[in-house]
Amino acid sequence: MRPGFASWSFILCILLVFLIPQDTGARKIATTEKEVSHDLQKLVLEGLALDNILQLEGADVEINNKHVKQDDDGDDSDDEDDDDDDDDDEQKKIIRKNLHKHMDIELNVFFTPSDLKVGKIMPIYFSKKNSSTSPKFLTREEASQIPFSSKHLKSLLKFFSIPKHSPQAKAMKYTLKNCELESMEGETKFCATSLESLLDFAHYLFGSNAKFKPLTTVHLSNSTAILQNYTISQVEVISVPNIIGCHPMPYPYAVFYCHSQQSDTNMYEVLVEGENGGRVKAAAICHMDTSKWDKDHVSFRVLKVEPGTSPVCHFFPPDNLVWVPLT
Ligand SMILES: *[C@@H]1O[C@H](CO)[C@@H](O)[C@H](O)[C@H]1NC(C)=O
Ligand SMILES: *[C@@H]1O[C@H](CO)[C@@H](O)[C@H](O)[C@H]1NC(C)=O
Ligand SMILES: *[C@@H]1O[C@H](CO)[C@@H](O)[C@H](O)[C@H]1NC(C)=O
Repeated sequence: MRPGFASWSFILCILLVFLIPQDTGARKIATTEKEVSHDLQKLVLEGLALDNILQLEGADVEINNKHVKQDDDGDDSDDEDDDDDDDDDEQKKIIRKNLHKHMDIELNVFFTPSDLKVGKIMPIYFSKKNSSTSPKFLTREEASQIPFSSKHLKSLLKFFSIPKHSPQAKAMKYTLKNCELESMEGETKFCATSLESLLDFAHYLFGSNAKFKPLTTVHLSNSTAILQNYTISQVEVISVPNIIGCHPMPYPYAVFYCHSQQSDTNMYEVLVEGENGGRVKAAAICHMDTSKWDKDHVSFRVLKVEPGTSPVCHFFPPDNLVWVPLT
Protein backbone atom coordinates (compact mmCIF):
# COMPACT_ATOMS: atom_id res chain seq x y z
CA MET A 1 0.00 0.00 0.00
CA ARG A 2 2.97 2.24 0.21
CA PRO A 3 6.31 2.37 -1.53
CA GLY A 4 9.43 1.10 0.17
CA PHE A 5 11.44 2.89 2.72
CA ALA A 6 14.45 3.08 0.48
CA SER A 7 15.05 6.69 1.29
CA TRP A 8 15.46 5.86 4.93
CA SER A 9 18.27 3.48 4.39
CA PHE A 10 20.85 6.20 4.21
CA ILE A 11 19.77 7.48 7.58
CA LEU A 12 20.39 4.06 8.95
CA CYS A 13 23.86 4.29 7.47
CA ILE A 14 24.34 7.52 9.35
CA LEU A 15 23.15 5.83 12.49
CA LEU A 16 25.65 3.07 11.95
CA VAL A 17 28.32 5.68 11.47
CA PHE A 18 27.46 6.94 14.91
CA LEU A 19 27.36 3.53 16.46
CA ILE A 20 30.20 1.89 14.60
CA PRO A 21 32.57 4.57 13.31
CA GLN A 22 34.10 3.38 10.08
CA ASP A 23 35.76 4.67 6.92
CA THR A 24 32.89 4.08 4.56
CA GLY A 25 30.73 6.50 6.49
CA ALA A 26 31.68 9.61 4.60
CA ARG A 27 30.80 8.06 1.27
CA LYS A 28 27.39 7.01 2.48
CA ILE A 29 26.57 10.44 3.84
CA ALA A 30 27.60 11.93 0.51
CA THR A 31 24.64 10.21 -1.17
CA THR A 32 22.20 11.91 1.17
CA GLU A 33 21.42 15.01 -0.89
CA LYS A 34 20.41 13.06 -3.95
CA GLU A 35 18.11 10.76 -2.03
CA VAL A 36 16.43 13.53 -0.12
CA SER A 37 15.03 15.05 -3.31
CA HIS A 38 13.08 11.86 -4.01
CA ASP A 39 11.84 11.64 -0.53
CA LEU A 40 8.90 13.97 -0.11
CA GLN A 41 6.60 12.16 -2.47
CA LYS A 42 7.34 8.83 -0.87
CA LEU A 43 6.93 10.18 2.58
CA VAL A 44 3.60 11.74 1.80
CA LEU A 45 2.37 8.47 0.38
CA GLU A 46 3.66 6.59 3.35
CA GLY A 47 1.98 9.00 5.71
CA LEU A 48 -1.22 8.81 3.73
CA ALA A 49 -1.22 5.05 3.63
CA LEU A 50 -0.45 4.91 7.30
CA ASP A 51 -3.22 7.35 8.17
CA ASN A 52 -5.67 5.21 6.28
CA ILE A 53 -4.56 2.08 8.05
CA LEU A 54 -4.51 3.66 11.48
CA GLN A 55 -7.96 5.07 10.83
CA LEU A 56 -9.13 1.66 9.78
CA GLU A 57 -7.80 0.20 12.94
CA GLY A 58 -9.73 2.66 14.99
CA ALA A 59 -7.21 5.41 15.68
CA ASP A 60 -9.11 8.35 14.34
CA VAL A 61 -6.69 10.71 12.72
CA GLU A 62 -8.76 13.85 13.23
CA ILE A 63 -8.96 13.14 16.93
CA ASN A 64 -5.24 12.44 16.91
CA ASN A 65 -4.52 15.79 15.36
CA LYS A 66 -6.45 17.53 18.10
CA HIS A 67 -4.42 15.70 20.73
CA VAL A 68 -1.24 16.72 18.99
CA LYS A 69 -2.34 20.35 18.99
CA GLN A 70 -2.93 20.24 22.72
CA ASP A 71 0.48 18.76 23.26
CA ASP A 72 2.06 21.50 21.21
CA ASP A 73 0.45 24.15 23.34
CA GLY A 74 1.54 22.37 26.45
CA ASP A 75 4.67 21.71 28.39
CA ASP A 76 6.95 20.74 25.55
CA SER A 77 6.52 24.06 23.78
CA ASP A 78 10.10 25.03 24.50
CA ASP A 79 11.24 22.05 22.50
CA GLU A 80 9.12 23.02 19.54
CA ASP A 81 9.43 25.84 17.11
CA ASP A 82 6.89 28.62 16.69
CA ASP A 83 6.30 27.58 13.11
CA ASP A 84 5.51 24.10 14.23
CA ASP A 85 1.83 24.25 13.38
CA ASP A 86 2.62 25.81 10.03
CA ASP A 87 4.68 22.73 9.28
CA ASP A 88 1.74 20.55 10.09
CA ASP A 89 -0.59 22.60 7.94
CA GLU A 90 1.85 22.55 5.09
CA GLN A 91 2.21 18.82 5.37
CA LYS A 92 -1.56 18.36 5.45
CA LYS A 93 -1.87 20.46 2.31
CA ILE A 94 0.68 18.31 0.54
CA ILE A 95 -1.03 15.16 1.71
CA ARG A 96 -4.39 16.45 0.52
CA LYS A 97 -2.96 17.36 -2.87
CA ASN A 98 -1.46 13.93 -3.24
CA LEU A 99 -4.57 12.30 -1.94
CA HIS A 100 -6.36 13.37 -5.07
CA LYS A 101 -3.58 12.20 -7.31
CA HIS A 102 -3.10 8.81 -5.71
CA MET A 103 -6.38 8.04 -4.07
CA ASP A 104 -7.68 5.71 -6.73
CA ILE A 105 -4.65 3.48 -6.59
CA GLU A 106 -3.95 3.52 -2.88
CA LEU A 107 -7.48 2.78 -1.85
CA ASN A 108 -7.81 -0.47 -3.72
CA VAL A 109 -7.49 -2.44 -0.52
CA PHE A 110 -11.03 -2.16 0.81
CA PHE A 111 -13.77 -4.69 0.33
CA THR A 112 -16.78 -6.16 2.10
CA PRO A 113 -17.17 -9.75 3.37
CA SER A 114 -19.43 -10.59 0.41
CA ASP A 115 -16.39 -10.10 -1.87
CA LEU A 116 -14.53 -12.92 -0.15
CA LYS A 117 -15.59 -15.67 -2.51
CA VAL A 118 -13.47 -17.98 -4.60
CA GLY A 119 -13.67 -16.77 -8.19
CA LYS A 120 -14.37 -13.14 -7.29
CA ILE A 121 -12.34 -10.70 -9.37
CA MET A 122 -11.36 -7.31 -7.99
CA PRO A 123 -8.63 -4.71 -8.43
CA ILE A 124 -6.20 -4.76 -5.49
CA TYR A 125 -3.15 -2.65 -4.74
CA PHE A 126 -0.31 -4.60 -3.14
CA SER A 127 2.72 -2.39 -2.60
CA LYS A 128 6.13 -3.72 -3.41
CA LYS A 129 9.06 -3.00 -1.26
CA ASN A 130 12.67 -3.85 -1.32
CA SER A 131 13.32 -5.23 2.12
CA SER A 132 17.07 -4.80 1.74
CA THR A 133 16.60 -1.04 1.78
CA SER A 134 14.00 -0.68 4.52
CA PRO A 135 15.06 0.44 7.97
CA LYS A 136 16.46 -2.34 10.10
CA PHE A 137 15.62 -3.18 13.66
CA LEU A 138 18.07 -2.07 16.27
CA THR A 139 18.75 -4.43 19.11
CA ARG A 140 17.01 -3.61 22.33
CA GLU A 141 20.32 -2.42 23.78
CA GLU A 142 20.98 -0.07 20.86
CA ALA A 143 17.42 1.25 20.91
CA SER A 144 17.54 1.87 24.64
CA GLN A 145 20.45 4.25 24.17
CA ILE A 146 18.50 6.53 21.86
CA PRO A 147 15.62 8.53 23.37
CA PHE A 148 12.28 7.95 21.67
CA SER A 149 10.28 11.05 22.52
CA SER A 150 9.11 14.25 20.83
CA LYS A 151 10.72 16.12 23.70
CA HIS A 152 14.04 15.07 22.25
CA LEU A 153 13.19 15.69 18.62
CA LYS A 154 15.75 18.46 18.27
CA SER A 155 18.64 16.40 19.52
CA LEU A 156 17.44 13.35 17.64
CA LEU A 157 17.52 15.31 14.40
CA LYS A 158 21.06 16.36 15.20
CA PHE A 159 22.00 12.83 16.10
CA PHE A 160 20.71 11.48 12.79
CA SER A 161 21.99 14.53 10.86
CA ILE A 162 18.52 15.30 9.57
CA PRO A 163 17.78 18.89 8.55
CA LYS A 164 15.14 20.49 10.74
CA HIS A 165 12.51 21.21 8.10
CA SER A 166 13.14 18.22 5.91
CA PRO A 167 10.49 15.63 5.09
CA GLN A 168 12.41 13.17 7.22
CA ALA A 169 12.22 15.49 10.20
CA LYS A 170 8.47 15.79 9.72
CA ALA A 171 8.14 12.05 9.43
CA MET A 172 10.06 11.53 12.65
CA LYS A 173 7.86 14.04 14.39
CA TYR A 174 4.76 12.36 12.99
CA THR A 175 5.93 8.99 14.22
CA LEU A 176 6.84 10.20 17.69
CA LYS A 177 3.54 12.06 18.08
CA ASN A 178 1.51 9.07 16.97
CA CYS A 179 3.43 6.85 19.32
CA GLU A 180 2.76 9.22 22.20
CA LEU A 181 -1.00 9.49 21.66
CA GLU A 182 -3.13 7.86 24.28
CA SER A 183 -4.82 4.73 23.11
CA MET A 184 -8.46 4.73 22.16
CA GLU A 185 -11.10 3.12 24.29
CA GLY A 186 -10.66 -0.64 24.14
CA GLU A 187 -7.31 -0.31 22.43
CA THR A 188 -3.90 -1.37 23.69
CA LYS A 189 -1.03 0.14 21.77
CA PHE A 190 2.71 0.19 21.84
CA CYS A 191 5.45 1.46 19.56
CA ALA A 192 8.19 -1.14 19.26
CA THR A 193 11.67 0.18 18.64
CA SER A 194 13.23 -3.27 18.58
CA LEU A 195 12.11 -6.75 17.67
CA GLU A 196 12.55 -7.84 21.28
CA SER A 197 10.19 -5.17 22.54
CA LEU A 198 7.68 -6.05 19.83
CA LEU A 199 7.71 -9.68 20.95
CA ASP A 200 7.44 -8.60 24.59
CA PHE A 201 4.29 -6.69 23.72
CA ALA A 202 2.83 -9.77 22.05
CA HIS A 203 3.67 -11.85 25.12
CA TYR A 204 2.11 -9.25 27.34
CA LEU A 205 -1.12 -9.26 25.34
CA PHE A 206 -1.44 -12.93 24.49
CA GLY A 207 -0.07 -14.22 27.79
CA SER A 208 3.49 -15.05 28.70
CA ASN A 209 3.13 -18.73 27.79
CA ALA A 210 1.09 -18.17 24.66
CA LYS A 211 2.46 -19.10 21.27
CA PHE A 212 1.73 -16.80 18.36
CA LYS A 213 2.74 -16.31 14.77
CA PRO A 214 2.88 -13.43 12.31
CA LEU A 215 0.57 -13.25 9.33
CA THR A 216 1.78 -11.11 6.49
CA THR A 217 0.90 -10.35 2.94
CA VAL A 218 3.54 -11.88 0.68
CA HIS A 219 4.14 -11.83 -3.04
CA LEU A 220 4.49 -15.50 -3.96
CA SER A 221 5.68 -14.73 -7.47
CA ASN A 222 7.04 -11.80 -9.39
CA SER A 223 4.77 -9.33 -11.02
CA THR A 224 5.43 -5.83 -12.24
CA ALA A 225 1.89 -4.62 -11.64
CA ILE A 226 1.15 -3.24 -8.21
CA LEU A 227 -2.46 -2.48 -9.10
CA GLN A 228 -4.23 -5.09 -11.14
CA ASN A 229 -7.26 -7.31 -11.15
CA TYR A 230 -6.88 -10.37 -8.97
CA THR A 231 -9.03 -13.49 -8.78
CA ILE A 232 -9.57 -14.94 -5.34
CA SER A 233 -8.54 -18.59 -5.42
CA GLN A 234 -8.65 -19.50 -1.74
CA VAL A 235 -10.04 -18.05 1.48
CA GLU A 236 -9.04 -19.29 4.89
CA VAL A 237 -10.70 -17.94 8.00
CA ILE A 238 -8.27 -17.42 10.85
CA SER A 239 -10.39 -17.87 13.91
CA VAL A 240 -8.70 -16.16 16.84
CA PRO A 241 -9.98 -14.20 19.83
CA ASN A 242 -7.66 -11.26 19.24
CA ILE A 243 -4.88 -10.01 17.01
CA ILE A 244 -2.10 -7.47 17.15
CA GLY A 245 -1.61 -5.32 14.09
CA CYS A 246 1.86 -3.83 13.67
CA HIS A 247 2.41 -1.07 11.13
CA PRO A 248 5.86 0.21 10.18
CA MET A 249 6.36 3.90 10.88
CA PRO A 250 8.71 6.20 8.98
CA TYR A 251 11.80 6.50 11.17
CA PRO A 252 15.57 6.14 10.74
CA TYR A 253 15.40 2.65 12.22
CA ALA A 254 12.58 0.12 12.30
CA VAL A 255 9.69 1.29 14.48
CA PHE A 256 6.39 -0.56 14.49
CA TYR A 257 3.13 0.90 15.76
CA CYS A 258 1.46 -2.15 17.29
CA HIS A 259 -2.04 -2.19 18.61
CA SER A 260 -4.82 -4.50 19.55
CA GLN A 261 -8.46 -3.59 19.55
CA GLN A 262 -11.21 -5.18 21.55
CA SER A 263 -13.71 -5.29 18.75
CA ASP A 264 -15.53 -7.65 16.51
CA THR A 265 -13.06 -8.57 13.80
CA ASN A 266 -12.47 -11.52 11.50
CA MET A 267 -9.05 -12.42 10.12
CA TYR A 268 -8.46 -14.11 6.78
CA GLU A 269 -5.67 -15.48 4.72
CA VAL A 270 -6.57 -15.07 1.09
CA LEU A 271 -4.81 -16.44 -1.98
CA VAL A 272 -5.21 -14.29 -5.09
CA GLU A 273 -3.94 -14.59 -8.66
CA GLY A 274 -3.22 -11.49 -10.73
CA GLU A 275 -4.51 -11.30 -14.29
CA ASN A 276 -1.03 -10.21 -15.40
CA GLY A 277 0.66 -12.81 -13.26
CA GLY A 278 1.67 -12.44 -9.65
CA ARG A 279 0.26 -14.64 -6.94
CA VAL A 280 -0.19 -13.08 -3.53
CA LYS A 281 -0.98 -14.63 -0.19
CA ALA A 282 -2.73 -11.78 1.55
CA ALA A 283 -3.62 -11.14 5.15
CA ALA A 284 -6.99 -9.44 5.47
CA ILE A 285 -9.26 -8.28 8.24
CA CYS A 286 -12.95 -7.44 8.46
CA HIS A 287 -14.20 -4.96 11.02
CA MET A 288 -17.73 -6.16 11.64
CA ASP A 289 -19.08 -3.20 13.58
CA THR A 290 -18.48 0.14 11.91
CA SER A 291 -21.32 1.98 13.64
CA LYS A 292 -18.98 4.11 15.76
CA TRP A 293 -16.63 5.05 12.96
CA ASP A 294 -16.24 8.55 11.62
CA LYS A 295 -18.84 8.87 8.86
CA ASP A 296 -16.20 10.56 6.70
CA HIS A 297 -13.95 7.55 6.84
CA VAL A 298 -12.52 7.01 3.40
CA SER A 299 -13.57 3.36 3.27
CA PHE A 300 -17.26 4.28 3.33
CA ARG A 301 -16.77 6.43 0.27
CA VAL A 302 -14.83 3.72 -1.52
CA LEU A 303 -17.32 0.98 -0.69
CA LYS A 304 -20.37 3.28 -0.98
CA VAL A 305 -21.79 2.14 2.36
CA GLU A 306 -22.99 3.96 5.46
CA PRO A 307 -21.40 3.52 8.91
CA GLY A 308 -22.93 0.58 10.71
CA THR A 309 -24.64 -0.85 7.66
CA SER A 310 -21.77 -3.00 6.46
CA PRO A 311 -18.57 -4.51 7.77
CA VAL A 312 -15.43 -2.95 6.26
CA CYS A 313 -12.54 -5.19 5.29
CA HIS A 314 -9.07 -4.48 4.01
CA PHE A 315 -5.96 -6.26 2.88
CA PHE A 316 -2.79 -5.57 4.84
CA PRO A 317 0.15 -4.06 2.98
CA PRO A 318 3.11 -6.45 2.68
CA ASP A 319 5.20 -4.58 5.26
CA ASN A 320 2.62 -4.91 8.05
CA LEU A 321 2.87 -7.65 10.65
CA VAL A 322 -0.28 -9.16 12.08
CA TRP A 323 0.24 -11.39 15.10
CA VAL A 324 -2.26 -14.09 15.92
CA PRO A 325 -2.20 -16.52 18.84
CA LEU A 326 -1.79 -20.20 18.05
CA THR A 327 -4.53 -22.25 19.60
C1 LIG B 1 17.07 -3.73 -3.47
O1 LIG B 1 17.92 -2.64 -3.21
C2 LIG B 1 19.28 -2.98 -3.29
C3 LIG B 1 20.09 -1.77 -2.82
O2 LIG B 1 19.63 -0.58 -3.42
C4 LIG B 1 19.61 -3.41 -4.72
O3 LIG B 1 20.97 -3.77 -4.80
C5 LIG B 1 18.75 -4.62 -5.08
O4 LIG B 1 18.95 -4.97 -6.42
C6 LIG B 1 17.27 -4.28 -4.85
N1 LIG B 1 16.50 -5.51 -5.03
C7 LIG B 1 15.40 -5.55 -5.78
C8 LIG B 1 14.68 -6.85 -5.84
O5 LIG B 1 14.98 -4.57 -6.38
C1 LIG C 1 11.73 -12.74 -8.80
O1 LIG C 1 12.74 -12.24 -9.65
C2 LIG C 1 14.03 -12.21 -9.07
C3 LIG C 1 14.98 -11.58 -10.07
O2 LIG C 1 14.34 -10.77 -10.95
C4 LIG C 1 14.46 -13.65 -8.73
O3 LIG C 1 15.71 -13.62 -8.11
C5 LIG C 1 13.43 -14.26 -7.77
O4 LIG C 1 13.75 -15.60 -7.53
C6 LIG C 1 12.03 -14.17 -8.37
N1 LIG C 1 11.08 -14.61 -7.38
C7 LIG C 1 10.09 -15.48 -7.65
C8 LIG C 1 9.22 -15.84 -6.51
O5 LIG C 1 9.90 -15.94 -8.76
C1 LIG D 1 -10.29 -4.83 -13.90
O1 LIG D 1 -11.27 -5.38 -14.75
C2 LIG D 1 -12.32 -4.48 -15.10
C3 LIG D 1 -13.37 -5.26 -15.91
O2 LIG D 1 -12.78 -5.98 -16.92
C4 LIG D 1 -11.72 -3.32 -15.88
O3 LIG D 1 -12.73 -2.39 -16.22
C5 LIG D 1 -10.68 -2.63 -15.01
O4 LIG D 1 -10.05 -1.60 -15.75
C6 LIG D 1 -9.63 -3.63 -14.53
N1 LIG D 1 -8.78 -2.96 -13.57
C7 LIG D 1 -7.46 -3.02 -13.59
C8 LIG D 1 -6.75 -2.29 -12.54
O5 LIG D 1 -6.85 -3.66 -14.44
